[in-house]
Amino acid sequence: MGTNNIVILAIESSCDETSASIIKDGKVLNNIVATQSVHEKYGGVVPELASRAHQENLVPVVQEAIFSSGISKDELSAIAFTRGPGLMGSLLVGVSFAKALAYARGIPLIEVNHMQAHILAHFIDEPNPKFPFICLTVSGGHTQLVLVKDHLEMTVIGETQDDAVGEAFDKTAKLLGLPYPGGPLIDRYAKQGNPKAFVFPITRMPGLNYSFSGIKTAVLYFLRDQLKVNPNFIDENLADLCASIQYSLIEMLLIKLTAAVKEYGVKEIAIAGGVSANSGLRETLSALALKKGWNLYIPKFEYCTDNAAMIAIAAHYKYLKGEFSSLDVTPLAKMKL
Ligand code: KG4
Ligand code: ZN
Repeated sequence: MGTNNIVILAIESSCDETSASIIKDGKVLNNIVATQSVHEKYGGVVPELASRAHQENLVPVVQEAIFSSGISKDELSAIAFTRGPGLMGSLLVGVSFAKALAYARGIPLIEVNHMQAHILAHFIDEPNPKFPFICLTVSGGHTQLVLVKDHLEMTVIGETQDDAVGEAFDKTAKLLGLPYPGGPLIDRYAKQGNPKAFVFPITRMPGLNYSFSGIKTAVLYFLRDQLKVNPNFIDENLADLCASIQYSLIEMLLIKLTAAVKEYGVKEIAIAGGVSANSGLRETLSALALKKGWNLYIPKFEYCTDNAAMIAIAAHYKYLKGEFSSLDVTPLAKMKL
């Protein structure tokens, strides 16, 4: 088969975003995302509600992706889906839909690893990082330093031993009384605050690993003590609190990234995942890259958080290598890179 007219429908449903995308010959034609708002009032994603919302959203989202791309269903060469990692119920909705459609149309099925897809989002548009590059993947469920040798060949060289950095953003935001997901709100308030106003711990794990659970406890006790003295402490210091928490989290991320660059001697650097939308991280890392002479790649905002375009580009590379899945493939809540 040549590289012409490879048309893939990709589906992402690992957490609380239902998304579909069409890719033709490696060019992403669209990226339809339905964000689930039902979780806001619960302060976190409720798995059962997430799978129900995926069931409601998936057909309209896929229909819109097909319709707005101008392709006909008959042109589809394969159906791709996120196999994991993610919430089992949410994954199951996407996997079942993808299987049914592939079976009905008699075309191949392509499973995609969500974490690999976050990294491959860098190949949706140019410029693309050159191999080998180091990717710092920062999301709500993962924090990984990955050595990327080729599109489909990557090794985790460091990762969090407990909470993910996105989780640290969301959990500390919750302590500040902010709604879920708190990461983007910390980002927004931090812009008006002083990052040195308060000092929160910078945890240093051995090697290239991370730990983000300590900061949550530190913030909890700090707030408890301050609120005893001044019940309005959070309201009066929200911007400084957000800026100081964000400062510690970014420091932790960049200390290990710098160590990885030194250890592997690679100066092509990328960031990926939901937290790579953080403006403080983007600015601090851009300044660091300039100082150190790194070539830095930062994804467009729409490709940072969960989306099907990244699943589509990953599927395109798998299609070229003939990496297809059988119809009895099952979702994996935990899935290694
Ligand atoms: O990659 P993603 O969309 O989903 C997972 O695969 O987990 O990442 C979601 C995470 C959440 O923790 C959210 O708070 C965080 O990304 N996030 C941010 C920002 N935008 C999203 N964290 C800090 N600053 C942001 N601007
Ligand atoms: Zn993700």
